[in-house]
Amino acid sequence: MLPEGLQRTLARARKAVAFTGAGISAESGIPTFRGDDGLWSKLRPEELANFDAFLRNPQLVSEWYAHRRHVTRESRPNPAHDALVEMEDLFDKFIIVTQNIDNLHRRAGSKNIAELHGNIERNYCLGCGARYDGEEFEDNPTFTCPKCGGLIRPDIVWFGEMLPTEEWEKAEAAAEEADVMFVVGTSAVVYPAAELPMTVNRQGGKVVEINIEETPLTRIADYSLRGQASVFLVEIVEKLKELRKVGKYTE
Ligand code: OAD
Ligand code: ZN
Repeated sequence: MLPEGLQRTLARARKAVAFTGAGISAESGIPTFRGDDGLWSKLRPEELANFDAFLRNPQLVSEWYAHRRHVTRESRPNPAHDALVEMEDLFDKFIIVTQNIDNLHRRAGSKNIAELHGNIERNYCLGCGARYDGEEFEDNPTFTCPKCGGLIRPDIVWFGEMLPTEEWEKAEAAAEEADVMFVVGTSAVVYPAAELPMTVNRQGGKVVEINIEETPLTRIADYSLRGQASVFLVEIVEKLKELRKVGKYTE
């Protein structure tokens, strides 16, 4: 059962944001970053996920992303991603703001998405800017541009890099006006992304956290749902469908 207050929030909310992190894809078999089994417990971000590391050892960094691309291509969206596809029709305005690069929200069928940290299926050449998106990229084992011989890098945000301006502005604008934000499967420690729930909180919107553990955000969340993303998102979507049909609380 969802808390009574949360049900009232859902009934009234017209503008919603789902802010997602690696935890939403954990049930698809994609490793998260932090925690005992997280990628950053075995690998050092400073050796892999930044531009200097890439220039120092492009082959190593490229192979790591090729591996992660392989893992994500082999995996599939899970019921949590599917629930967010349904959510799009249950609010007047809805956007997914994701920190994930795994492309699973798109593959699930969500349309309005701001990808704050890029997407592992997009790549571009540092030499000539040519783009290598989707399947065509894996054809080239040397990770260099067939057009100019330059290095091809993933179109993702590495540590120390700026977030894509347009995506960030969309995310901030959505947070500024959201009646409710669902914060799903993120440790909420990587900035500036982690500011977004604070923005919602500041302007009087409700913050609903869904996570198997407590996070630094838990103390500002209006509701903290402790458990798997799929379980609670499916329940919330069911509740929304019921509320929208009945219209009991609508103004
Ligand atoms: P983290 O690995 O930091 O956090 C994953 C969160 O998901 C944790 O809080 C887990 O408790 C939670 N979790 C795990 N399984 C879950 C499940 N089934 N249901 C609900 N919650 C679950 O991942 P992010 O917060 O996404 O940055 O990390 C943020 C950024 O740090 C990433 O985008 C990446 C990384 O360095 C870049 O690549 C720029
Ligand atoms: Zn090139």
